Amino acid sequence: MKKLLTLIAVASIMASCNSNTTKETTQTLDSNSIDKHTQSNADKVKVKHLHLDIAVDFDTRKIHGCATWDIDNPRAEDKLILDAYQLTVDSILVDGKRAEFSLGQPVEHIGSALQIPIAKESKKVAIHYRTGDNPRALQWLEPQQTNGKQYPFLYTQSESIYARSWIPCADGPGIRFTYTARVSVPKGLMALMSAENPQQKNDSGIYNFNMDVPVPAYLMALAVGDITFKPIDERTGVYAEPAMIDKARYEFEQVGKMVQMAEQLYGPYRWGRYDALVLPPGFPIGGMENPKLTFCTPTIIAGDRSLMNLIAHELAHNWSGNLVTNATWNDFWLNEGFTVYFERRLTEAMTDKAYGDMLWELGYQDLEKTVEDLGKDSKDTHLKLDLTGRDPDDGLTDIAYEKGAALLKLIEINVGREKMDAFLKKYFDEHAFKTITTAQFLTYLDANLIKGDKALADKININAWVYGAGIPTNCPRTQPVRFVKVDEARTAFLQGKPAKELVIAGWSTNEWLHFLRKMPKPLQTTQMQALDAAYNFTNSGNSEIADQWYVMAIAADYKPAYAAIDKFLSRVGRRKFLEPLYEEMMATDKQQMAKDIYGKYRMNYHPLAQMTLDKLVK
Ligand code: BES
Ligand code: ZN
Repeated sequence: MKKLLTLIAVASIMASCNSNTTKETTQTLDSNSIDKHTQSNADKVKVKHLHLDIAVDFDTRKIHGCATWDIDNPRAEDKLILDAYQLTVDSILVDGKRAEFSLGQPVEHIGSALQIPIAKESKKVAIHYRTGDNPRALQWLEPQQTNGKQYPFLYTQSESIYARSWIPCADGPGIRFTYTARVSVPKGLMALMSAENPQQKNDSGIYNFNMDVPVPAYLMALAVGDITFKPIDERTGVYAEPAMIDKARYEFEQVGKMVQMAEQLYGPYRWGRYDALVLPPGFPIGGMENPKLTFCTPTIIAGDRSLMNLIAHELAHNWSGNLVTNATWNDFWLNEGFTVYFERRLTEAMTDKAYGDMLWELGYQDLEKTVEDLGKDSKDTHLKLDLTGRDPDDGLTDIAYEKGAALLKLIEINVGREKMDAFLKKYFDEHAFKTITTAQFLTYLDANLIKGDKALADKININAWVYGAGIPTNCPRTQPVRFVKVDEARTAFLQGKPAKELVIAGWSTNEWLHFLRKMPKPLQTTQMQALDAAYNFTNSGNSEIADQWYVMAIAADYKPAYAAIDKFLSRVGRRKFLEPLYEEMMATDKQQMAKDIYGKYRMNYHPLAQMTLDKLVK
């Protein structure tokens, strides 16, 4: 297959060399530009459309039904290969006739190849299947684990390669298809997908969906539960459990405006509606950019709209990621680094530079920590990754996010905002609904922004960023004016000024995070007590601040926070919050505490969070 792709690449390079009119970038297929995390042959047999007809069964905790793929086989391949992860396949019909399929031995991380014999003229492949015992994408919640405590809940998390655990599919970011779905759920519940969505429950429990814009499988999403809707403006709105809907609606007040601002920055929003779904607290990540319907954690509902940069982030993915998609998981920074850059620009536009600068600095601190953890010479600190034979989750670090975003900021500083924005807008337009590799991006950057300016190229030194380790010496660092007062307050406190007397007027979440993060570790018990007495961190309703405080509490063995930590870990499933807490316990002789708490609450966490924590707590 590799040879074949190289041949195609050479042919297309030649084609574009021969033509004077196409400005197409040439494709350098170095060995890790090929997606090694899918076994599907959708590069040869076209999978155009999926119709999903499924039932969601909370009693058996299974999804079952039929996935029908519309295919096109112009090259007369003798089989279609799809990805499947622990699926049970009952039967397959090709154009109505039973086919002798085979389901291969599972490959670590990747799952099984589902091979289906087809002919040149084959058009419809209907796969009758059921999900396995613990599909990686799915989390089934008992009523007790929801806000309302009345009804069960189900949600999916398909990125990066988990769609195959609930749908037999061609599961690579480079393969796009449209879809329709008919989903049957218990009466009284509502179903939502990454598609045009209902705004009300219906009595039948049957919901029909249409996604007419082609998307890769990692953007397939489903949520089922006691969900209601409130509009924000004509094209935006919010879904949540009834117990959360008003808080969510308040928090999301600015989202309509945010979409408009995003369009002003980088061109039209091309997905119709933009809604967000606030999930129960077990959701394993902060947010997921499922098209038309961002999924997000309730831990961003702080009551004061101070964590809305997460929505800015997921919204931004509708350009970087959903519109222009990383070709393989080795190119993940093209999704996330661009999105963090876009998110910060959007947040700055919604607030001001002083506010945006704080996010850049907090991001830089995250990057420093990540490089320290991975090792400054580690290949995992390159922007271009090599995840061959590994779980793509290994690439989910702040390298893609913060090193990626910092590179774009460096380019911006060197060319100026006007040129940068014009370049990015053009980049999104010209690559809309396409995938891109790192090498293709570099070629495009050369042709459209660097334009042979050797001095500029030297200043940026992009190869050191993309193919080199650690934090490059020209990495921009922001000095937020609003952190000056924070540093002063912290210093004063450490020199003995009473906590209550610190000047903290007007501080946002960002100031508090910076204040706490740069404290010495561990603080003395008396210092912890003084801070807690003044600011009640132990009972903070702001999840970011609480999480940071709890890490400090574990380090300082500050017992008054332990009941709150236990409660937090019982409720919240967001990996970003769980990991540092369990890590700190494991690192500070509190292994038994970690094991006890994890033993109690493991079943509350999503399979993906379990995977991460199983490695950590043992
Ligand atoms: N697309 C990611 C989440 C993701 C990436 C899930 C890879 C699984 C594999 C999402 O956009 C994201 O980055 N979420 C962050 C938001 C934060 C950077 C504002 C999160 O969940 O914390
Ligand atoms: Zn993201």
